[in-house]
Amino acid sequence: MRHVERYQRIAPLYDLLDLPFERWRYRALRPLLFRGLQGHLLDAGIGTGRNCEFYPAEAIVSGIDISPAMLERARTRCPRLAAGGRLYQMDVTSLAFPTASFDAAVSSFLFCVLPDPLQVPALRELGRVVKPGGLVRLLDYVRPRGSLRRVVSYLWQPWIGWAYGASFDRETERHVPAAGLELLESLFVVDDLVQLLTARVRGPRSGSGMMSLNPTPGPSR
Ligand SMILES: C[S@@+](CC[C@H](N)C(=O)[O-])C[C@H]1O[C@@H](n2cnc3c(N)ncnc32)[C@H](O)[C@@H]1O
Repeated sequence: MRHVERYQRIAPLYDLLDLPFERWRYRALRPLLFRGLQGHLLDAGIGTGRNCEFYPAEAIVSGIDISPAMLERARTRCPRLAAGGRLYQMDVTSLAFPTASFDAAVSSFLFCVLPDPLQVPALRELGRVVKPGGLVRLLDYVRPRGSLRRVVSYLWQPWIGWAYGASFDRETERHVPAAGLELLESLFVVDDLVQLLTARVRGPRSGSGMMSLNPTPGPSR
């Protein structure tokens, strides 16, 4: 099943199914996506708009999603974007925005649903629409290494695969350099289960190697 159909199907139930995770896990993590970001921002795979209340006050944010039904829900939750006409139905692998139109792009729980062959094209496309030197920041589940969490992740896999097209095995971090982006930071923000990646679009001012940004909860590596 294609993602657009999958998310059309689940959109009416999405917020309800996610509610416990939203309340006890995601709400604390979402602000980390926007640390130090300002200007024109892209929220890729905006879903039902759960990031909206955490957008920096002065930022001008646009949201894209492949599913019209998810976007419909974002319209209610993100009135400023809706009123500004900045919610778009688009595929992250082929964005209709001109090159270098954003200061930064973020996504939450998009790359763990994107199939492996789409990971590099999606990262490349985010890198194309963000200005050189700008950041691409991603929050996603990965397969935990700790034995109990690992077992639990395998128990969850059939459900999240069927419902969301998601997998714990995406290896997005490995694809970042392949997409021509410079990995700046890789942090676990929930045990070894949820990862926050920050990459920089290469440009005249990019340096080299990993650098430390502001400290965040959870162990870093
Ligand atoms: C797991 S949900 C996450 C939603 C939201 N970012 C959040 O944090 O709650 C993944 C979202 O990505 C969207 N999506 C999946 N494939 C996509 C693609 N190729 N391009 C754009 N959006 C996509 C889905 O429609 C869905 O809304």
